[in-house]
Amino acid sequence: MTTIAVKDEWKRRAKIDDATYKAWYETSVSDPEGFWGEHAKRIDWIKPFSKVKNTSYAPGNIDIRWFEDGTLNVAANCIDRHLATRGDQVAILWEGDDPKDSKAITFKELHENVCRMANILIERGVTKGDRVTIYMPMIPEAAYAMLASARIGAIHSVVFGGFSPDALAGRLEGAQSSVLITADEGLRGGKKVPLKKNADKACEIAAKAGQSVDTVLVVQRTGGEVAWTKDRDVWWHEARDEVSADCPPVEMGAEDPLFILYTSGSTGKPKGVVHTSGGYLVYASMTHDYVFDYHDGDIYWCTADVGWVTGHSYIVYGPLANGATTLMFEGVPNYPDAGRMWEVVDKHKVNIFYTAPTAIRALMGAGDDKVTRASRATLKVLGSVGEPINPEAWTWYYKVVGEERCPIVDTWWQTETGGILITPLPGATALKPGSATRPFFGVQPQIVDNEGAVLQGATEGNLCIIDSWPGQMRTVYGDHERFEQTYFATYKNKYFTGDGAKRDEDGYFWITGRVDDVINVSGHRMGTAEVESALVAHPKVSEAAVVGYPHDMKGQGIYCYVTLMEGEEGSEALHKELVAHVRNEIGPIASPDKIQFAPGLPKTRSGKIMRRILRKIAEDDFGSLGDTSTLADPAVVDDLIDNRQNKK
Ligand code: WTA
Repeated sequence: MTTIAVKDEWKRRAKIDDATYKAWYETSVSDPEGFWGEHAKRIDWIKPFSKVKNTSYAPGNIDIRWFEDGTLNVAANCIDRHLATRGDQVAILWEGDDPKDSKAITFKELHENVCRMANILIERGVTKGDRVTIYMPMIPEAAYAMLASARIGAIHSVVFGGFSPDALAGRLEGAQSSVLITADEGLRGGKKVPLKKNADKACEIAAKAGQSVDTVLVVQRTGGEVAWTKDRDVWWHEARDEVSADCPPVEMGAEDPLFILYTSGSTGKPKGVVHTSGGYLVYASMTHDYVFDYHDGDIYWCTADVGWVTGHSYIVYGPLANGATTLMFEGVPNYPDAGRMWEVVDKHKVNIFYTAPTAIRALMGAGDDKVTRASRATLKVLGSVGEPINPEAWTWYYKVVGEERCPIVDTWWQTETGGILITPLPGATALKPGSATRPFFGVQPQIVDNEGAVLQGATEGNLCIIDSWPGQMRTVYGDHERFEQTYFATYKNKYFTGDGAKRDEDGYFWITGRVDDVINVSGHRMGTAEVESALVAHPKVSEAAVVGYPHDMKGQGIYCYVTLMEGEEGSEALHKELVAHVRNEIGPIASPDKIQFAPGLPKTRSGKIMRRILRKIAEDDFGSLGDTSTLADPAVVDDLIDNRQNKK
């Protein structure tokens, strides 16, 4: 296996070298109180904390608190504290969908916009602890909305703009949110996304379920026509001039919630992951600083959407807390063509670029000339996140995009972890293509077998983390029991990530992917149960089982086994209808890649669907189905295989 040693050039400019990494890591686990007590000073506290860590993973008492008696305001940390020194520096560099469209927002302007939006929210009755739902395209106002909520102590819940009205309604209900911030339309790859229309429909659905929305703040993006509900709907561009440009930040406890972010799990509906204020901000800003080796004046670009956790921690909170210039991109990687990313890199002189393997694979397929026609001379660090990066894509990213000048940080983390947990540091870590390498400060990974026995040395198994770090989620919104069941019940006294991992002889970690019923489609997390429940909601479907299968571009694709109602026949038309139905229920990211009509599904005698077998069939791996003797009707498996082979 190739190892790429840390180059002298990387060492020279980096904040952390290997010796420092080792020394800090050692302190961070032997004396977490001392370590984090010191590093928490990187943010501004209104009232300093006296207690650093108070965390318990004990069964029945999962309780996670960091810096609990300190107070702060997250928005003030991301904006106000920079005004004196960098008020005229660009905070948000916005690149529109159309290459001709861009704009720069300074910290001063950010301050004014956030204050105005906060004042509108206050005027509409929003106070500390209220939930504000944000359903936005990638425009600066999405960041204003998040920071405005944080400024007044409201809890934001950002819903990805690609989700359907149904999905949005479910999240409005889940968070009991009566305030929604959206835009008339989004613009991606030259196509319009009817956000306000979707929002209207979502409000209708939510109202039927008992959750009324009384304020919809609408940002005008395209000027497209929208329906208007008087007294409920408010135009941002009208209201903003009627409120004050100043809004004092509210003093928040370190453990007061900052946001809820819904994410897919192996069972049931998406869960509201809750992150709080102090620990989250310390962790997001510290990881942003060291993982990307951020230096004052660097132009930093994370291509994620603010609808995902990567956008929260590494477009908005981490970079802005550090006074960075953060680039926000409205468009898609292949519009107007597959050279767009590198053009943007040149246009804005980007130094740090952070994207997902799915984008790298897609751009790799588009040909090197799209890359090499841009100079990319400003690039210093390249990052990857969201799914395992295959060594081929890694090597292309390293050699073609970075011309072997830039270290690649393959960052492993999750919505639940708030920030990066396993990653190289640019000036400290020798790289191995495909490995997320070593834990960040304070993170103690452990690999266990299915029975929970701890595996030592070079090994493979289930990835757990044995002690808390400041950015860890605190609870599932409104359901602490589910928090414990999901993450702490499988292996007692440790946090179970749901991922599998290998550890090699150098102690490097290689994430192998989810070991639960979550699939990762183009870096988007999808619960198989969610897709199944969308499918069975169709009148012609009696039963469905969904699994992931390896997909060249997307990493994993969505494979659906569907049993139809008595008397129904599988057909091309029904296939199309089901795909459209799932898109409608969840959103385009959940579109099934394959549907196999199956007269029966393999079940145990107690009625449990054997997904292991379905996964193998979807992978065309018929030889290693394992023990099928416990099935209620083993013949079902032969039918499925015949059927699969006939379709080819
Ligand atoms: C996967 C995204 C391998 C993993 C930040 C995890 C990765 C899930 C990596 C979380 C990586 C994320 N290498 N796998 N560098 N980064 N994953 O919550 O399966 O959207 O559990 O958070 O993505 O996805 P989520």
